[in-house]
Amino acid sequence: METQRKRTPIVAANWKMNKTCAETVSFISKLLYELEDARGNLEVMIFPPFTALRSATTYLESEKKLNIRPFIGAQNMHWEDSGAFTGEISPLMLKELGIRHVILGHSERRNIFGETPEVILKKVEAAIRHEMTPIICAGESLEQRKKGETESVLKSQLYDVLTLLKSHEYLNFVIAYEPVWAIGTGVAAKPDEANDACRFIRALIGSLFSPEVALKTRILYGGSVDPSNFRDFLLEPDIDGGLIGSASLSPEKFLEMIRIALNYE
Ligand code: PGA
Repeated sequence: METQRKRTPIVAANWKMNKTCAETVSFISKLLYELEDARGNLEVMIFPPFTALRSATTYLESEKKLNIRPFIGAQNMHWEDSGAFTGEISPLMLKELGIRHVILGHSERRNIFGETPEVILKKVEAAIRHEMTPIICAGESLEQRKKGETESVLKSQLYDVLTLLKSHEYLNFVIAYEPVWAIGTGVAAKPDEANDACRFIRALIGSLFSPEVALKTRILYGGSVDPSNFRDFLLEPDIDGGLIGSASLSPEKFLEMIRIALNYE
């Protein structure tokens, strides 16, 4: 399959359970100041904790329009619009804040909080219903990789999700390949191996949707991405950007990765 890049790259910050409102605003103000003259074809996304979403969106609204303006997204959401779900946040609540992007199926949600494939499917369905852009994560554990199961794991995590998206003709989604063993470990995947996984995902999209949709879909790599390795991932033909955890907490490092994405070719 032809994989030549015609896709807008994405640099996404997954802050996980980090940063207060004040820290969020301080980060975004530094970012906007530094990006004032930046030009280029790039989408920047920041996923703060729920408590800082309002501060982030309000601060951004108050700032003048920039060419590169981050989208603020949520790290998770419930699938129902409202109800007796103590501690949960609904798509309606996010949309009220102007949030249109949501990470779904992150391995920390799957492994620490027990999110099952059925739950993830319901959340993707909610994202479709609310016309949000889900960033859907998938990736194998070290044990699964050692057993040569990477592709079968990716297929099992993504097949039903992609089939659901296809049944709604919903193309507004992003996939993030995040091998569990590379997340937060400082040991990133090798770029060519990450590309193999992303190419496999693209082929799966191609077989379920069409080759054209596969060519248009953005697939990110995540897992110990930092300024020293980001360029190598971006140079791979099937990798369209990064979902970045630890290294995205530093405004300096995040900016460096934005600059890399603006100039990597
Ligand atoms: P990491 O996290 O960059 O700290 O490895 C990535 C992620 O979990 O999305």
